Amino acid sequence: MQATLTALLAKASAELARLKTRADFEAAKARCVGPNGEFTTLMKQMGAVPKEQRPAMGKLVNEAKAQLQVQLDATLARIGDAEIAGQLGPAIDPTLPSPDSGPGTCHPLTRVREEMCRILRKAGFTVVEGPEVETEYYCFDALNTPADHPAREEQDTFYFPENVRFGNLTKKVPQEKYLLRTHTSSVQIRSMLKGKPPIRIVSPGRVYRRDTSDATHSANFHQIECLYVDRNVTVRDLKALLDYIFAALLGPDTKTRFRPHYFGYTEPSFEVDLSAQHLPKVNKEWIEIGGCGLVDPGVFEGVGYDPKVWTGYAFGMGLERLAMLMYGIDDIRYFYQNDLRFLKQFA
Ligand code: DAH
Repeated sequence: MQATLTALLAKASAELARLKTRADFEAAKARCVGPNGEFTTLMKQMGAVPKEQRPAMGKLVNEAKAQLQVQLDATLARIGDAEIAGQLGPAIDPTLPSPDSGPGTCHPLTRVREEMCRILRKAGFTVVEGPEVETEYYCFDALNTPADHPAREEQDTFYFPENVRFGNLTKKVPQEKYLLRTHTSSVQIRSMLKGKPPIRIVSPGRVYRRDTSDATHSANFHQIECLYVDRNVTVRDLKALLDYIFAALLGPDTKTRFRPHYFGYTEPSFEVDLSAQHLPKVNKEWIEIGGCGLVDPGVFEGVGYDPKVWTGYAFGMGLERLAMLMYGIDDIRYFYQNDLRFLKQFA
């Protein structure tokens, strides 16, 4: 009996040592201690053992069972550990520095914005920022855009509900609404009210319009605004500055042209076109790039500047438009999708 038990244990032990999976373990366990297992069969034979030998035999069998249980437990623990190790993969040292993912690159809109600001700083302009949430006064009224102007309609402008409060934005009159600015021109008014002429500011930033997104429209895009206030400012100064900045940004082959237009806050007003056929994917001779003009005397009066003394020019343009032109990008949505395959091209 002793010999049989020892042999069975040795056989089980060798078998358990080879097991790799939980399923194999369960099958092996059944072969040993299941209802028809080898140990179970042996136990059943106890009945045939003479009565006086039974206590000694019982002791032997119990010892063997205990040893077998230890081995079964150890095997299951070993298989469980291997499963976890398999899930964790190769060992890592968490104290090592993380792999270098490279220095990263600037977003194309950031590049255009910074380049424009750099060029304008050289021409004496100071970079200023304005809030993206505005009141109707700064975005429209002070810019001589009357209440019935289409730009102010609910379907073009995002207005906040009446009960929303912005502690850092003071309303001129209690009944005016808060809105997401539709252009950076509001910063002209803020700068003039805050400072004293002469003024030379450039203000890049986000603007919002109720547009359905497509290849050339986005409800959220970026503009850059410029304002110059001084004595004896003329259209010639405006044209000279625009010629200068576009040549600096896009190369000396770039030309600009003015087309008469209407904006409430400038008189005369123009739309600016660019000719830059040396750039990628430019298939039209003239491309509209922004609006500009001489600051309307009414706007000066509104901010308390004497229009007989002060003159000025202003212009605003879309940064996406410029970036699309510079890099030959044909869909505005690429700017916002954060696809690395796109962004990595601007290294
Ligand atoms: N605010 C205009 C727009 O969003 C652009 C513009 C036109 C800005 C004339 C100006 C300007 O400063 O003088 O379309």
